Amino acid sequence: MRASGATHTADATTAEEGLAIQEAQAKFDSDTATGLAMQNTLLTPRFYTTDFDELDAIDVTSVRDIWDELIAEMQADPNKGHFKKNEDWDHVDWDGMEPELKKEFIDFLVSSCTAEFSGCVLYKEMKRRGANPDVTGLFQLMARDEARHAGFINDALREAGVAVNLGFLTKAKKYTYFRPKFIYYATYLSEKIGYARYITIFRHLEAHPEYRFHPIFKWFREWCNDEFRHGEAFALLMKTDPRLTRGGNVLWIKFFLTAVYATMYIRDHQRPAFHEALGVDTDWYGHEVFTKTSEISKQIFPITLDIDNPRWTANLKRLRQANTDLTEAADRRGPGGMLARLGARIRAGMFFARLYLVPAKHHEVPDNPRMEPGY
Ligand SMILES: [Fe+2]
Ligand SMILES: [Fe+2]
Repeated sequence: MRASGATHTADATTAEEGLAIQEAQAKFDSDTATGLAMQNTLLTPRFYTTDFDELDAIDVTSVRDIWDELIAEMQADPNKGHFKKNEDWDHVDWDGMEPELKKEFIDFLVSSCTAEFSGCVLYKEMKRRGANPDVTGLFQLMARDEARHAGFINDALREAGVAVNLGFLTKAKKYTYFRPKFIYYATYLSEKIGYARYITIFRHLEAHPEYRFHPIFKWFREWCNDEFRHGEAFALLMKTDPRLTRGGNVLWIKFFLTAVYATMYIRDHQRPAFHEALGVDTDWYGHEVFTKTSEISKQIFPITLDIDNPRWTANLKRLRQANTDLTEAADRRGPGGMLARLGARIRAGMFFARLYLVPAKHHEVPDNPRMEPGY
């Protein structure tokens, strides 16, 4: 059922409507891209499920005023109709694109599409299972946005002759269970780091348009504002229960900060041609995104990672090297390959632990977490 009669995901007002539109196009979608999106490794985007009843029991009374303001902003739907190709969408010469860049860029798009869609699936499910109007209202709005984002990336992929079959993914991809508090930490961070990533690329290309090798980057500003609002919502959800951000939970927050930053760093370094084409130094970009995310996360987390500590940088590089060794050993057969893989895994675990043990920075958290996107 297409409630508002929309024919494009950008105009869809609910996630269900957006997905129905994508479903109708799925016959053109490619097995390769869907295969990539199906991958479940430590580094690829996953689908999550959680204890929906616990989430539904949240009481937002303590943050009611700021909550209502945020919801009203999302209901006003400033980005309705934005995520579709228009006259700003320049022709993309996929055939003329340098093969290495094409491969990495498609990988980037598929991984972004999967991550967007992962949010959509989780938020949509929460809306479906819940009975608390505050919670279901919020999750329906966020699912709407993520369906548009995923749909738009898929439109870009379709031009390259590949696209992710989102309907198939919903049914076939493995779901990882996370307790609600882990969902808050992980999802809050992925929304905010998503904002920081999109805005950093957007600002860079605004200053250096000659590096904009694909039109999708022109859409990143409005895009990142959606992600910013989603992050705000999770900050408010966490604010309703102060226990989530103190005591032993601070160790969990540190774990998620470390895991999210390290994953991004490793993944980005796997795409050298992509970053070169954008005219971006991958180390600079990582540092920039971590700085922005840390600054924002002070709104709710009492710690930030000491990303300028030489031990942090050194162990991050070692972790990345161990991961490269692991990838290379993946194709080696026999006991030699097995030993190489085991060695790389042990080293990766050790460097991750060392990264985790670098002392964090502590600070006061404001009473009112609300922020406006400032970059
Ligand atoms: Fe999104
Ligand atoms: Fe989001």
